[in-house]
Amino acid sequence: MAKKSFNRYTVTSALPYANGPVHIGHLAGVYVPADIYVRYLRSKGKDVAFICGSDEHGVAITLKARKEGITPQQVVDKYHEQIKKSFSDFGISFDIYHRTSSKTHHETAADFFKKLYDEGKFVEQSSKQFFDPVEKQFLADRYIKGTCPTCSFPEAYGDQCENCGSTLSPGELINPKSMLSGAEPTMEETKHWYFPLDQYEDWLKEWILEEHKEWKPNVYGQCKSWIDNGLKPRPMTRDLDWGISVPLKDAKGKVLYVWFDAPIGYISATKDWAKETGKNWEDYWKKEDTRLLHFIGKDNIVFHCIIFPALLKAEGSYILPDNVPANEFLNLESNKISTSRNWAVWLHEYLEEFPDKQDTLRYVLTANAPETKDNDFTWKDFQARNNSELLAIFGNFINRAVVLTHKYFDGMVPSLGELTPEDQATIDALKAFPDKISASLDQFKFREAVNHLMDLARLGNKYLADTEPWKLIKTDPERVKTIMNIAIQISGNLAVLSEPFLPHTAQKLYKTIPVNGTKWEDTGSTEIVNSGASLGEQQYLFERIEDEQIEAQVKKLTDTRAKNMETDNQKVTPVKEEMKFDDFMKMDLRVGEVKTAEKVEKSDKLIKMTVDTGIDTRTIVSGIAKHFSPEEMVGKKVTVLANLAPRKIMGIESQGMLLFAENSDGSLKAVNPDAAAENGATIA
Ligand code: 2FM
Ligand code: ZN
Repeated sequence: MAKKSFNRYTVTSALPYANGPVHIGHLAGVYVPADIYVRYLRSKGKDVAFICGSDEHGVAITLKARKEGITPQQVVDKYHEQIKKSFSDFGISFDIYHRTSSKTHHETAADFFKKLYDEGKFVEQSSKQFFDPVEKQFLADRYIKGTCPTCSFPEAYGDQCENCGSTLSPGELINPKSMLSGAEPTMEETKHWYFPLDQYEDWLKEWILEEHKEWKPNVYGQCKSWIDNGLKPRPMTRDLDWGISVPLKDAKGKVLYVWFDAPIGYISATKDWAKETGKNWEDYWKKEDTRLLHFIGKDNIVFHCIIFPALLKAEGSYILPDNVPANEFLNLESNKISTSRNWAVWLHEYLEEFPDKQDTLRYVLTANAPETKDNDFTWKDFQARNNSELLAIFGNFINRAVVLTHKYFDGMVPSLGELTPEDQATIDALKAFPDKISASLDQFKFREAVNHLMDLARLGNKYLADTEPWKLIKTDPERVKTIMNIAIQISGNLAVLSEPFLPHTAQKLYKTIPVNGTKWEDTGSTEIVNSGASLGEQQYLFERIEDEQIEAQVKKLTDTRAKNMETDNQKVTPVKEEMKFDDFMKMDLRVGEVKTAEKVEKSDKLIKMTVDTGIDTRTIVSGIAKHFSPEEMVGKKVTVLANLAPRKIMGIESQGMLLFAENSDGSLKAVNPDAAAENGATIA
């Protein structure tokens, strides 16, 4: 298909829930790549609306309000301001940072719903839903906890098990309890409006799987798996007292589902931005020559690639996203970032501890972005990238170019003389950089792009090291003029090309290097700085980060871990209800041996094994991949519950269960029979 040409860009980045501060995972996954891309587009002179805001509805907010003993409105007011400030401190250059509690949004979302309703695009359906008999309230999936049917984790939520990652519905939980009152939920009848996603399946197949093969493999793969598994109607309303009231007469006490209204928040934000700036919001949402892009994290893929586009399609007057460059997750020091366990680097705290070092964090998070798989942030890597890349390569090159020009030519950029082959090769290499960086950015390969940028600084360093102007200045000052001119041209190019990635650094550089233009089209040239122009004062762009600073950060995390373990220990699992000896004897426990083991595709938790139980060789699937590799399981003696009814886990029939001990920090340890125990030996 011929590539579309676009005249305008609407770039959105996921609306963060206003229920807590933002951390490095947010920046790395969504906001830094989106900002780089938008700054790059602006540098290319494109017409862009960069849209974001706080997601202020949904159960996440009401849960937080309950926990803090304040109202949901107080929660969102507090965190909206804090999040907005963090983004602005890090130079995330939204055109508007809106809120879903705004009047414009309430109206826009309600109108959108009403239009679909009037056109008969919803299916009205009553069903039995979980209800808290004590609090007299219907329970959102997140408000119900119970035992996971897949991995037996006792604290699984009604929508997802955080232990094995399975997506659940509350009806599947064993022993469900309301998180509001602790009571066992009852089932009560309630009416909701469902969006029949199944009716859009064929269209989605065509639109994504055929027409958007260029989407990132992680995004395309997730969409394909959702579609292949079959799409079901989804309720677009909820029984909740916080959110946008369903704009219908017979809908008292009902609000729009947060995932219905949140993406419409992009539209509402665009409306208010357009009003403030004298633009027409519809140009950005309804014109075919506008390119709509959603930057999100991987947990948002289904909503942005399947549900929201299907809603837009149903509405009929909107454009659809042209790409959804979703990232995977960033871990912190090998553990999943967790707000509730305070396992995070909070942006506001980072800036207190590393004032003015926004660009260092932006750089590290880009160079190590979780673009195609989950990635790990470590403080050691942060220090190394600052000291041996930003400081030793980028900062060092600019510093030498500026200091030497000041020293030899009083800060006046000398003119270019006759070129040696070495000069010519350097100039040719320089000229290729803007296109190289563009090519990476155009494919949303931000890590690759920032590496190219660093290579340009490397080119500059190498050029100075090879030509050694400090030696030539006595013998051949004319030659030094040419060398310093080229070094300053490289510096000017670095200033402009680094702006999307390191905006604060670029601003500093502009004060020192008098570039003729700050747009992408001005780069790749050896006339980006005029000869005869005066350099500004030399200034240090980056500072060394000392071991003590890193040790302090690591200690902070170690302290957090210790505190978490203490709380975990206080939560010793209570002894279960007494049981009869006969009940115990019902269990057929045996010694087995793992013969083969492999990871289950598309699951980061499950391992599929064949186990010799002495009676037979059977398949058993266990949620242990986070704790053991398949290789280390092979040959292990294991304790097998051999008469457990077979269960399907991700389409594989598991014929029994292996026993493991779970430590207070959640880690699993094998319960191994003595090596001398024979396969099939009974355990009692
Ligand atoms: O996952 C989240 O944090 C959601 N608040 C993202 C919403 S994105 C959009 F749809 F608004
Ligand atoms: Zn589970």
